[in-house]
Amino acid sequence: MVPFSVDPEKCKNDGICVKACPTQIIQMKSPEGIPVPTEDFEEHCLACGHCVAACPTGAFSLDWLSSEECPPIERELVLSPEQAEQFLRSRRSIRNFNDTPVERPLLGKLLEIACYAPSAKNNQPWHWTVVEEPAKVKQCASFVIDWMRSVIKKTPTIAESRGFVRVVAAWDSGEERICRGAPHVIVAHAEKNYGFGAEDCALALSYLELFAHAIGLGACWGGYFYSATNSYPPLFKALGLPKDHRAFGAMMVGYPQLNYCRIPLRYPPRVTWI
Ligand SMILES: Cc1cc2nc3c(=O)[nH]c(=O)nc-3n(C[C@H](O)[C@H](O)[C@H](O)COP(=O)(O)O)c2cc1C
Repeated sequence: MVPFSVDPEKCKNDGICVKACPTQIIQMKSPEGIPVPTEDFEEHCLACGHCVAACPTGAFSLDWLSSEECPPIERELVLSPEQAEQFLRSRRSIRNFNDTPVERPLLGKLLEIACYAPSAKNNQPWHWTVVEEPAKVKQCASFVIDWMRSVIKKTPTIAESRGFVRVVAAWDSGEERICRGAPHVIVAHAEKNYGFGAEDCALALSYLELFAHAIGLGACWGGYFYSATNSYPPLFKALGLPKDHRAFGAMMVGYPQLNYCRIPLRYPPRVTWI
């Protein structure tokens, strides 16, 4: 099967697709001067779509992805440097949420955008479990507390150093510091033995968090939540994750209660120039 087609009317023989391909599986060896696949194309194609995305005339289509299917980049929508800086610096971890649930299409949109994160070899290894029901979020939070209690019992020093004692004490006095009252939690998981699961899932969740910020939603990493998911079988089971998976991150999501007015400073970059 031919893995891609090139419209000879549109192709300018510029070799841009050859240059853009990260695995060098496109070559300009045809007598007509249009790009053709190397013999090992199928074996090495990452399905990243750079060939289709870089072609300025829309001549290049993969057998599974036509040029027309790929939306054009709208230059007027690209953030200015000032907008990008303000956007990135003004994102906050949101820990105060309204009770209003987020509509499923909007949660779906977060996931759709998260999938545009980079991933090793474009593997996109993430799977998503959305705890959509606020009552289920509360139940999961109670499992996290059960796990913390067991850690406090078994290894009190570790529990203390990880802040579990305070969190459990807060829970016992009616304050929920696991999911912070978020109506939803999104868990990113992948095959536990996959080498880049942690990096890829964290990047996808970062995209999700940033897009949440862009559309007026609040998000916050649930570090306790996904640690407990991997360490406490009742929570793992309640989430219904596949046995050979591991949670690589969790994000609380909801409508934020507070508006932030200033950008607190960060440590300056610790950098070595060599
Ligand atoms: C891996 C990871 C785990 C985190 N876990 C939690 C958590 O369990 N609860 C929480 O309230 N915040 C959690 N956070 C949020 C951090 O506390 C927060 O990013 C940091 O304080 C900086 O604040 P900012 O995100 O508002 O800039 C986590 C962040 C990361 C990256």
